[in-house]
Amino acid sequence: MAKISIEDVSFSYEQDKKNNFVLKDVSYSILPGDSVLLLGPNGSGKTTLLKLIMGLLKPTKGKIRIDDADTSKASVFEISKKVSMIFQNPEKQFFAETVREELSFGLKNRGLREEEIKKKVEEVAKKFGLFEYLDKSPFDLSGGEKRRLSIASIIILDPEVLIVDEPTAGLDFQYRNLMISIIRGFLETRNKSLVVATHDIDFGLRIANKAAVINEGKLVWSGDVVSLLREEEIFSKGILAHTFTSSLISRVISQSNVDFQKVVKILEELTEGLM
Ligand SMILES: Nc1ncnc2c1ncn2[C@@H]1O[C@H](COP(=O)(O)OP(=O)(O)O)[C@@H](O)[C@H]1O
Ligand SMILES: [Mg+2]
Repeated sequence: MAKISIEDVSFSYEQDKKNNFVLKDVSYSILPGDSVLLLGPNGSGKTTLLKLIMGLLKPTKGKIRIDDADTSKASVFEISKKVSMIFQNPEKQFFAETVREELSFGLKNRGLREEEIKKKVEEVAKKFGLFEYLDKSPFDLSGGEKRRLSIASIIILDPEVLIVDEPTAGLDFQYRNLMISIIRGFLETRNKSLVVATHDIDFGLRIANKAAVINEGKLVWSGDVVSLLREEEIFSKGILAHTFTSSLISRVISQSNVDFQKVVKILEELTEGLM
């Protein structure tokens, strides 16, 4: 499974004015089995960092490696064999005439045989409740179905590393919980890794075991999620804001030896997943 190394990366959108860095000297590694929550205020550079990992943007300084491949040299297609990203508002990116074609596209690109593609497409369509729409246009689906299709079209590629940008923005609880179960399902396979950029800390606590915090383009904190919850300074400085749930979890785990995952599970049960 893939290892991602971000090595002293700085990035400027204005390649001519290289002093205007949106990311500054960021170093971080994502190891197989990591489920990383990328946190930070709006405009802090989260989406930019994800696009750099995908090779859609290239570092102005420093290097990102996916296993041995340097993203500045590898093609986006090569990178996408290991790393796939679910963008914010992914339903804006549909292009195929039918749901079946939309789901088949990436597999065709990888040269899978026709029968194999058909089998996978139907399997995934069933899992995502899209089977009856296979011959419909993606644009005729409801909002929730569109969202499911966009996620299904990435999950079907079975990436080693899944990257998700703001998965809960504008979603109701039903889809939040759907995202949670999809992500947990993905992480059940040993050594897959996940990076989720979000400012929705409650959502993140339900799926992540690590956290990285960026503020104004700098990586200001990284470690495991439990340590983040004990890190008062990041919250008191206003880089991150606690929610009722996150402060409750933080209190409970600081004052007792109870396991973090257990607290999350109890809260999910008590709130019926509405956290
Ligand atoms: N295409 C772009 N061109 C120029 N500046 C951009 C572009 N995209 C984002 N930025 C700027 O880069 C900074 C980081 O943005 P972004 O990575 O989207 O942050 P986040 O995802 O944390 O909200 C912001 O100041 C934003 O305005
Ligand atoms: Mg963003």
